[in-house]
Amino acid sequence: MQIFHHIASLRDALKTERLAGKRIGFVPTMGNLHAAHIELVKQAQQTNDIVVCSIFVNGLQFGLNEDWDKYPRTFEADCQRLRDAGCDFLFHPDDREMYPNGMDTQTRVICPTMTDVLCGASRPGHFEGVTTVVTKLFNIVQPDEAVFGVKDFQQLAVIRRMVEDLCMPVQITAGTIHREADGLAMSSRNGFITPEERPRANQLNKSLNWVAGQIRDGRRDFELLESEARAQIEAAGFRVDYLTVSDSRTLNPAAVDDTEITILGAMYTSGARLIDNVSVEL
Ligand code: PAF
Repeated sequence: MQIFHHIASLRDALKTERLAGKRIGFVPTMGNLHAAHIELVKQAQQTNDIVVCSIFVNGLQFGLNEDWDKYPRTFEADCQRLRDAGCDFLFHPDDREMYPNGMDTQTRVICPTMTDVLCGASRPGHFEGVTTVVTKLFNIVQPDEAVFGVKDFQQLAVIRRMVEDLCMPVQITAGTIHREADGLAMSSRNGFITPEERPRANQLNKSLNWVAGQIRDGRRDFELLESEARAQIEAAGFRVDYLTVSDSRTLNPAAVDDTEITILGAMYTSGARLIDNVSVEL
């Protein structure tokens, strides 16, 4: 695996591959890679000749009181995992390479819908940071296809919308959610769950699945379902950020005749904010 810290050298290497007719797949990450990231790399390998992974903990998408400084940085272990997975290129820029004029004056990419609800409501500016850095990464890598995990359902929806609105020539592919044996969605933030909380940390997933089951069984009283599920999570000792039954496409509250529904949730453990979602097709 070749490692690049600079945009110019990555571009040179990719130009050679592109001229040789190779199709480029891309998996953007913030590192601290786990099995779910590696599955995204493997997914990208199936439909591309060259796979590029990026590791960049993007300060622009973290709020002032968020965990940018304590976000786990495990570069050597990440490299080993990517090598073992057969990843071709790794892009690992520093802040100066990505934001040479500073973050404050960086030109932004703003998606005006879907970004101030759910995760966007409790993380103002987060999606602007994501769409801006993903646009920059797309411009640097110019991939034919980019693969994003569906655990970040809202992020995936926002990126799809951005790509459509800005006519970006890249195919966006959703990777599946990978879970621990008890249903907890794999996440770089799971390392912040305490051993005492860990046996109960799958409650978010349990409650989302419970709501999905109730909907499949015919219930359409979504607001009541949401508050019942919230109560389950609180009873397990966690604070709920949001739990909503949403239209999968628009992320608006689901209507009773919707046929594609996603139940999305976020909850706080003592050290981490965890997100998850479950989709239902009726
Ligand atoms: O999902 C992530 O890890 C990040 O939001 C992304 C897409 C790499 C942008 O920084």
